[in-house]
Amino acid sequence: MSKWIYALQAEQLPEGKTSAVKVGGQSILLARVAGHVYALHNECPHLGCPLHRGRLDGFLLQCPCHDWVFDLRSGEFTIAPEIKIPVFPVREERGEILLKTGGE
Ligand code: FES
Repeated sequence: MSKWIYALQAEQLPEGKTSAVKVGGQSILLARVAGHVYALHNECPHLGCPLHRGRLDGFLLQCPCHDWVFDLRSGEFTIAPEIKIPVFPVREERGEILLKTGGE
């Protein structure tokens, strides 16, 4: 059973921003949009570029390498939703962002 793991102080992730953290040996992208925090595997499924350097436009994140665009809420590639970035459950508690990466 996976448990909640500390990722970042909530104040370090302002609205409309992304951040990269290492949790459980994995690089995770965090993004806050409309007050909600999303967590995704920080690696583009195309050729592996780190997504936290991409451009955020609402819920859409554009990969910095070849402009593939993903929806933060589902991890889906917008023009081919069968291509998906793994997304992780997130919660905020007492000023901390916690997430579950699964598998542990
Ligand atoms: S590596 Fe992300 S679009 Fe190519």
